Amino acid sequence: MAQLTIQPSGKAVDVIAGTTLLSAILASGESIPHKCDGKAQCGSCHIFIQEGRKTLPRIQKLENEKLDTLVGVSSKSRLACQTLMGEEPVTIELLSFV
Ligand code: FES
Repeated sequence: MAQLTIQPSGKAVDVIAGTTLLSAILASGESIPHKCDGKAQCGSCHIFIQEGRKTLPRIQKLENEKLDTLVGVSSKSRLACQTLMGEEPVTIELLSFV
């Protein structure tokens, strides 16, 4: 279990390791687009990892291929549906341009 802080609201929730960030965000009551329901096909769950990026599992091929097709991607980018929470605190930023 580790703390997930969601910006810009600043809401903080405890998340079990192995939970997708998409599930954790939705369970927290925050809203995030997820048009393909977590299949790494739409890219609408694009988020930035502001802190704790290196504690998360590495990007896998499917996620990397989708990120390559998106606008506004940076080294902080992840797909919330493909990113599993680790054992360390993480701060993410929900994007307003999707
Ligand atoms: S919900 Fe579609 S890529 Fe994450």
